[in-house]
Amino acid sequence: MPIKYKKITVDDAEIFRKFLLTVSSETDFLLSTTAENDVGIEKIRNQIDFVNKHHSYNLIIAELEGLIVGYIYAFPVQGFKKMHSCQIVVAVLKSHWRMGISKSLLQSIIFWHREAGYKRLELSVASTNAAAIGLYNLFGFEVEGIKKKSFLFNSDYVDEILMAKIVN
Ligand SMILES: CC(C)(COP(=O)(O)OP(=O)(O)OC[C@H]1O[C@@H](n2cnc3c(N)ncnc32)[C@H](O)[C@@H]1OP(=O)(O)O)[C@@H](O)C(=O)NCCC(=O)NCCS
Repeated sequence: MPIKYKKITVDDAEIFRKFLLTVSSETDFLLSTTAENDVGIEKIRNQIDFVNKHHSYNLIIAELEGLIVGYIYAFPVQGFKKMHSCQIVVAVLKSHWRMGISKSLLQSIIFWHREAGYKRLELSVASTNAAAIGLYNLFGFEVEGIKKKSFLFNSDYVDEILMAKIVN
C-alpha cells in the first residue's frame, strides 16, 4: 500500500495523538517530550481545527495503513514584521526512516509556501542530528548561526544550529 500524503483533518485527531506520543518517545531531537504531548483528544482536535482555519499554517501527514508514520508542521514566526517567515518541524516514525518520507513532506511544504505568502523557511536542529542536517542540506537550507549548549539531552548540552532557506 502506498504512503498517502495529505493535509490533516479533525478526523485524524486520534491517530495523530498516537503518532505524537510514539515519535516523541523515540528521539531526543524533538522539542516536545512525550509528557508534553500527552494531551487530551479535544485539545488535539482544537489544534487541528485552528491550523486548518489559518492559511499561514499547514500540517501534512504521511499515512500508511490507517496510521500516521510522519508529519510536517509549518507555522508563522510570531510578530507582524516576521510573518513572512515560516517555521518547520518534521518527524518520521523510526520504523519508517530512510524511506524518503521526510523528503516528500518537505517537498510538499516547498510547493505550498507561495500560496501562504512566505519568503523564508526556517528551523533549528541539534548539532548531533546528522539525519536532519542531511535532509535540510539536501533542500538548500543554509546555516545562519549556532546557539551554543542550547539543548539539554539527558545530561548532555548540545548546540542548536539555526538554518534557513530564502524562497520566492
Ligand atoms: C530527520 C528525519 C525527519 C529524516 O526522515 P526520513 O524520512 O528518514 O528521511 P528521508 O528518508 O526522507 O531522507 C531524506 C534525506 O535526509 C538525509 N538523511 C536521512 N537520514 C539520514 C541519516 N541517518 N544520516 C545522514 N543523512 C540522512 C539524506 O540526505 C536523505 O536523502 P538520501 O536518502 O537521498 O540520502 C528522521 O530521522 C526523524 O524523524 N528523526 C527524529 C525527529 C527529528 O530529528 N526531526 C527533525 C528535528 S530538527
